[in-house]
Amino acid sequence: MPQTAVKLAYSTVLRMAGPISPVAFQQPSSLLTFSYSPSHELEFTDSALRYYVHPPRNADLRHGYDRWIRRPEERGRIDNLLRAVIRVRTNMDAQDLNGAGWLRDIGIVSWRGVMTKIMTAPYEERDSWELNVMMVDGTLYFEEHLTENKLAEKNNVAPHHRMQMYYGYAFESYCTSSTPAPSKGTAAGTWGGDVNTNVQWCSVVKTKLGDTRIVIGGEVDCVRGHFTGNTDSFVELKTSLIIRGAQDEAHFEKKLLKFYFQSFLLGVPEIVVGFRTAAGRLSKVQSFRTMEIPRLVRNKPGAWDPLVCLDWGKRFIELLKSTIVSRPSTLGDPLPVWRVKFTPRSGVTISPLDKPGLDEVVNGEDRVGFLPQWYFDDIRS
Ligand code: A3P
Ligand code: MG
Ligand code: MG
Repeated sequence: MPQTAVKLAYSTVLRMAGPISPVAFQQPSSLLTFSYSPSHELEFTDSALRYYVHPPRNADLRHGYDRWIRRPEERGRIDNLLRAVIRVRTNMDAQDLNGAGWLRDIGIVSWRGVMTKIMTAPYEERDSWELNVMMVDGTLYFEEHLTENKLAEKNNVAPHHRMQMYYGYAFESYCTSSTPAPSKGTAAGTWGGDVNTNVQWCSVVKTKLGDTRIVIGGEVDCVRGHFTGNTDSFVELKTSLIIRGAQDEAHFEKKLLKFYFQSFLLGVPEIVVGFRTAAGRLSKVQSFRTMEIPRLVRNKPGAWDPLVCLDWGKRFIELLKSTIVSRPSTLGDPLPVWRVKFTPRSGVTISPLDKPGLDEVVNGEDRVGFLPQWYFDDIRS
């Protein structure tokens, strides 16, 4: 089977062990924000921006469950992030700031969810993941690859699990208002309106890991006070089961790794956690400063160290770049799609995708690899 032989021959493996060196991460700065409307249409407005308010005491997180408008799980296409990239580039050109040059210096374009998976991989013990990666004019584009099975799994969650997911959205509703709170986000909230998970407010930021400039897009739950155009006022909302003992505490501290990186990558400085009972009653609300979270878990059982993640992330990016750049020309395709597979406790493999795998990625649309043709038309015009 020659195809398998090619795949094995050019496959590269990165394992997770190795000495750790401190890696610089630049404070993310905002490029633009956008919204998804109730029908999940992209708008370059702040129509979906919400303001933080204290949730009512003892709030019932089951409230409104039967009115939840739930966006179906779909393949996380990169298209809308590319629309934002085009917009940033065009805005720069309009100010004589050389948008094309700006894009050439960007090493990676990715949704925040994918970057969080990459960065937290050294501590991931359960979930494997796969990515599609392409390099265009020196920029890497990442897209999560969901197998049909994983997609079906996400859409067929058990009723009790579905209810638990809803608790998170109900908390968001109680904690937010569509108008700024009268006195700096301290007014007590009520129900903030029925949940429609089509509606999202997103921020696109630029940052830098080691020498790699990265453009990251992701949802921001709300802002505290007023939105000033930068990331200072961003707030991430989370729910978690109340902590009743050492075991619960260790479990929560483990979860903090994901809370931390999810927020850190977008420059979100504050995470408000709603602790709830199993039956969905809000029992306590606690605010965490994102930057202080690593110190909270240091020297605890099951502690994690963000430096391990940053070092791993940097090595991951370097390996990806060198593998793709050194790709033997005998592969034929000028813009191949690479498949990255992560296996917990083991590491990642990187290999070029065969044609049959590519059909699944392209899905019959007008695409080059997984990138839409209109994106090439724009950046190469
Ligand atoms: P909680 O995080 O409060 O549980 P986010 O926290 O990223 O803003 O997401 C809001 C809610 O979406 C989450 O609330 C959770 O209910 C649901 N959610 C997000 N990511 C999920 C995932 N990977 N699996 C299941 N539910 C998820
Ligand atoms: Mg959110
Ligand atoms: Mg949240």
